[in-house]
Amino acid sequence: MGSAFAGKDGSDTPDFATLQKSYAFLLTREPPAATYAQWDGFLQQGLTAAKASDKAGLQASCKGCHKAHRDAYKVDPTVPKTFP
Ligand code: HEC
Repeated sequence: MGSAFAGKDGSDTPDFATLQKSYAFLLTREPPAATYAQWDGFLQQGLTAAKASDKAGLQASCKGCHKAHRDAYKVDPTVPKTFP
């Protein structure tokens, strides 16, 4: 999702439509809440922000989720790692 967030034309404006698709996709493949307690919340937040073209809200979703779930995700083969 990094390239979509950076903007496809180098304009520094996120590609909100693509990000919206990525979030919607991820919401259909959520990992177990027992391990990823805040995963769903960050995805809901990000989807809302992508729909609203809210860059700051998106960034909060990206950063929050990375900080909260990085370690578990790295060693987990079951979560999706490629998106639209
Ligand atoms: C629901 C949780 C979640 C959300 C929301 C999220 N990410 Fe991630 N992302 C992760 C996890 C977990 C990793 C793995 C972190 C690591 O390996 O350090 C990751 C890794 C990445 C990477 C590293 C490349 C890779 O494939 O390993 C990039 C770039 C990235 N995310 C971009 C974004 C951007 C941009 C957003 C917001 C538009 C975002 N992510 C939102 C969970 C999330």
